[in-house]
Amino acid sequence: MTQDELKQSVAQAACEYVATHLPNGAILGVGTGSTANFFIDAVAQIKERIGGAVASSEATRLRLEAHGIRVLDLNSVIDEGRDMPIYVDGADEVDANLAMIKGGGAALTREKIVAAVAGRFVCVCDQSKLVAQLGRFPLPVEVIPMARAQVARALAKLGGEPRLRTGVITDNGNAIIDVHGLAITDARQLEIEINQITGVVTNGLFACRGADVLLLASEHGVKTMLA
Ligand code: 5RP
Repeated sequence: MTQDELKQSVAQAACEYVATHLPNGAILGVGTGSTANFFIDAVAQIKERIGGAVASSEATRLRLEAHGIRVLDLNSVIDEGRDMPIYVDGADEVDANLAMIKGGGAALTREKIVAAVAGRFVCVCDQSKLVAQLGRFPLPVEVIPMARAQVARALAKLGGEPRLRTGVITDNGNAIIDVHGLAITDARQLEIEINQITGVVTNGLFACRGADVLLLASEHGVKTMLA
């Protein structure tokens, strides 16, 4: 199977998960990236049972709307006292504890906000994303543009090699620094430490709030792992 076929199969499994676990008319959080795109295309088949979606990026919002799925503003959802029981999103890396590196698609901040609100984070990946230790994938860090150089200096002090992602501006108008070569022995601690650097909006470690469920596609089918 190609990687796209694996992504398609896990997207279909996530759609079935939503059909089984999302209460009728409830709100669904939707992630960003190629796996999330396959999921959006799959979930369009059951759009009547979804009360609305919260999008983790402008690209996802546009794709959901193209399928006729109503996209809701997260603040209004919370102001109205509504819940978002499930959030489905991909990852760049995931470990056995379901901690992740995300942000390859530069949507990490909105993804982290939506994940923080969701009752259950369902991560959808092909097996190439499962790793023994996070860190081979460069860690994305969203930064306020005027703080770019000073944040890069602080990240270098942590032992990484920061590289500005050229030609990318996030949906929030910020820059992305990808940090190569970090030794991530304690993902929660590093997530907190990097977020303390003045000028960092957030970083792509999802360890403090990892996934609750991992749907992992391989040649042998889709396996479910729980945190
Ligand atoms: C976007 C993300 C994506 O979830 C991550 O990059 C995985 O993408 P893909 O499904 O295309 O491999 O974090 O910011």
